[in-house]
Amino acid sequence: MALRDEFEKYLEQCVINSISGITKDAMHYSLMNGGKRVRPQLLFDALKGYGMDPRVGFPAACALEMIHTYSLIHDDLPAMDDDQMRRGKPTCHIEYDEATAILAGDGLLTKAFDIICDSQTNQVTIVEMIRYTSQYAGVDGMIYGQELDMAAQSQDQLSLEDIETIDLYKTGKLLTLSLIYAALLSDHQDDIDTMVQIGSLIGLQFQIMDDILDVTKSQEELGKSTSDIDNKKQTYVSVLGLEAAKQRVESIQQEIMEALDSLDMNTTALKETLNYLVQRSN
Ligand code: IPE
Ligand code: IPE
Ligand code: MG
Ligand code: MG
Ligand code: MG
Repeated sequence: MALRDEFEKYLEQCVINSISGITKDAMHYSLMNGGKRVRPQLLFDALKGYGMDPRVGFPAACALEMIHTYSLIHDDLPAMDDDQMRRGKPTCHIEYDEATAILAGDGLLTKAFDIICDSQTNQVTIVEMIRYTSQYAGVDGMIYGQELDMAAQSQDQLSLEDIETIDLYKTGKLLTLSLIYAALLSDHQDDIDTMVQIGSLIGLQFQIMDDILDVTKSQEELGKSTSDIDNKKQTYVSVLGLEAAKQRVESIQQEIMEALDSLDMNTTALKETLNYLVQRSN
């Protein structure tokens, strides 16, 4: 079975093994709804690069995808981006209701910490993974980025530096966590600083691409609502324009490749995924 299919099965099992109820149904609905699984892919690529079986990363990848999906469910709520479509289907609060969507997000976040503990590694590494997860997903990480993103809707024109800070936190932190997990699981703690540098660049680039797609593709092509203009989001594209944003994606790619070359690992799989990400159409 292809690694991706194997992972999808694993992911589904993690949510099926919960008490029955509408919250569980909504968690399953949003999680098993055809995301690109970019964060798991980066983790698997990095583990392969370190000469490890990527399956060692299944619990960590599952946690990443659960936390990412929770962030999307809450991001789509009326109080945030107020979006109706996600991953080609009605958003969680449209399919269910707002209370259920809030609980499904809470459920996914909390469950992620349970699943991390299933990682086939020593207990010290598991504790380190839990700590990094809390820091990178929480109020020192992704949540802070979402706070800045919401605040920016009612602020005067932001500087490029402000935009990059938002992107680094709201998107870069979770993507970075994928690479940190790989370094921890393969016992390459000394690489964490470089992984943080690379993950931050990937995050910035990924969000610029997301902002470009929001204004250049239809909702049907993306499988999600395009609401940045209606929501008066200040993005790299709104501040610098489409062409400059595309150029920035290219220049960041070079920086990422150079940083990857400084690591003592096989970077073939990671580079392949990163090349796909800058050409993606959703
Ligand atoms: C969308 O993330 C939200 C951002 C952080 C830009 P993805 O583009 O990875 O969404 P899915 O998981 O494929 O649906
Ligand atoms: C989302 O950014 C970032 C997080 C969910 C943390 P966006 O609001 O741009 O993501 P989409 O475009 O709704 O997927
Ligand atoms: Mg948002
Ligand atoms: Mg959004
Ligand atoms: Mg977006």
